Amino acid sequence: MKQFARSLLLYALVLAPAAWAADPPQALAAHPDGAAIASGHDLATKAGMEILDKGGNAFDAAVAVSSTLAVVEPISSGLGGGGLFLLHDARTGKDVMLDARETSPASATPERFLDKDGELDRDRSVNGPWSAGIPGLPAMLVQVAGEHGRLPLSESLAPAIRIATDGFPVYPRMARGYASRREVMERYPGTREVYMRNGRPIAEGDIFKQPELAHTLQLLADKGFDGFYRGETAKKLLAGVKREGGRWTADELAGYTVKSREPIVFDYRGWKITTAPPPSSGGIALAAMLQVLEGWDLAELDDAHRTHVVVEAMRRAYRDRTFFLGDPDFVQIPQRVLTSRDYAQGLRSTIHPEKATPSDLLSGNPTPLEDDETTHFSIIDNEGNRVGGTQTVNLLYGSGFIPAGTGVLLNNEMDDFALKPGTPNAFGVMGYEANAPKPGKRMLSSMTPTFMEKDDQVVVIGTPGGSRIITMVLLGILGYDAGLDAQQVAALPRYHHQWLPDEISAESGAFTPEVARQLQAMGHKVDLPGDSAEGGRGSSHVWGNLQTVEWNRRSNTLSGGTDPRNPEGSAEVRKVGKGD
Ligand code: DON
Repeated sequence: MKQFARSLLLYALVLAPAAWAADPPQALAAHPDGAAIASGHDLATKAGMEILDKGGNAFDAAVAVSSTLAVVEPISSGLGGGGLFLLHDARTGKDVMLDARETSPASATPERFLDKDGELDRDRSVNGPWSAGIPGLPAMLVQVAGEHGRLPLSESLAPAIRIATDGFPVYPRMARGYASRREVMERYPGTREVYMRNGRPIAEGDIFKQPELAHTLQLLADKGFDGFYRGETAKKLLAGVKREGGRWTADELAGYTVKSREPIVFDYRGWKITTAPPPSSGGIALAAMLQVLEGWDLAELDDAHRTHVVVEAMRRAYRDRTFFLGDPDFVQIPQRVLTSRDYAQGLRSTIHPEKATPSDLLSGNPTPLEDDETTHFSIIDNEGNRVGGTQTVNLLYGSGFIPAGTGVLLNNEMDDFALKPGTPNAFGVMGYEANAPKPGKRMLSSMTPTFMEKDDQVVVIGTPGGSRIITMVLLGILGYDAGLDAQQVAALPRYHHQWLPDEISAESGAFTPEVARQLQAMGHKVDLPGDSAEGGRGSSHVWGNLQTVEWNRRSNTLSGGTDPRNPEGSAEVRKVGKGD
């Protein structure tokens, strides 16, 4: 479905539950009859399928998809960044979130990010070596392959190495992204070496080869963790960062670890929701929003009132994000309270059914939301193993900085810390002490890989989109609950509220003019496409890149949904394996 049809949601809300109830009961399948992969680039989806065909499981496929995305979507994620992967092991029934979030180098003290007037130095927080945390994704690949996979790391990395060596065609989003980051990318010799050809930058249709990155991946394949965090690659990373005025230490690289975290689990209208715990803010915010929303029968409300209560739930969850959330290894998070039903009930009681609650204005001028980068993939294999992986270098092409000879574009994730308390970051969200940078600390994230399970349905869902990730996953969950299929969920029009700025931003097609008018009459500020001379913030942002897969255990069918906003994405469902 390529159109963002609002009527579809209405149809599903009103009619679909009846259709479901009419199904005769059947036995539930123990495992799917094939596999499903949805990712932000077709080459990555195909790499995952190739590894499943070789006898790998969903975890091996995740290594192949993730590393291929790192090659073909440098705009969004890569070996120089990090990620949060949610894993379900069908054999043990266990779920775990692997946290390969970047860590703060000790040198990156808050003062480093202030200009001479004491204001946040935005150039430093998003460009070049100071904006980068110690990368986590290479360690993630090693850990997923070593502890959960069935194939050797070298086999699962083979597709990514091949594509980095042979190249792939530059697509419009990649070329456009380069154009918007060009000034920064061309500051650094290591980046120019990769992105400039015969004196001109990459352009749409060029075959983009990355021999240095292929070599770095090969070292990782051959030597595992030490192939990136020690030895040749580590030396080049340290030298490159130093050359551009930054300061990382060999111990910081060699000491990097992936953390296993217990996911947040709660119930929403009969769905078991399993989602990302801190250092993501996603799970806590989702638990709060969905448990607040449980108080209404959303299908019974008209469009304006349904949107109103969803927005009020968003507003309250994002306020808590601002004050309480950070790296759980460094700060005490009142997680039990924030995810409890009682707390949600309290929040719900503060929502007026007809009136917007004005957000309490704090200091700081929220900045415009940036383009949507980062990337997500969802996998279910034929044994019922699942992976939801969201990975990122933060903003477009991360820091823009490649330490010479590595092919590794470093992240600009330091901007996800509250570098100056109360000053919004690139996504307009801010924080205080809980998310202040400290040596070795992980910056707060919004990445929200999520599983949904009901007796007969299993879903993996996630998306990029900075602070809007959480509300997109929320709308996706509401869509599935309303009976939409995977592709319809990926296509749903989106709206978002994050407490500050105190406004609803909306994609084209999210509201009719009448619904927007009703929301405004309740006191909501609605930023619609075409609102201002520049076209409103909403219009400049069709946002997200949601990738989801679903297994219906009653019909034993798999389906995939890939975001129609991203032409490179793909969802594939088929039988896999040598014998199948
Ligand atoms: O971890 C986070 O929340 C962000 N670094 C994700 C960045 C992102 O999704 C970029 N897209 N707009």
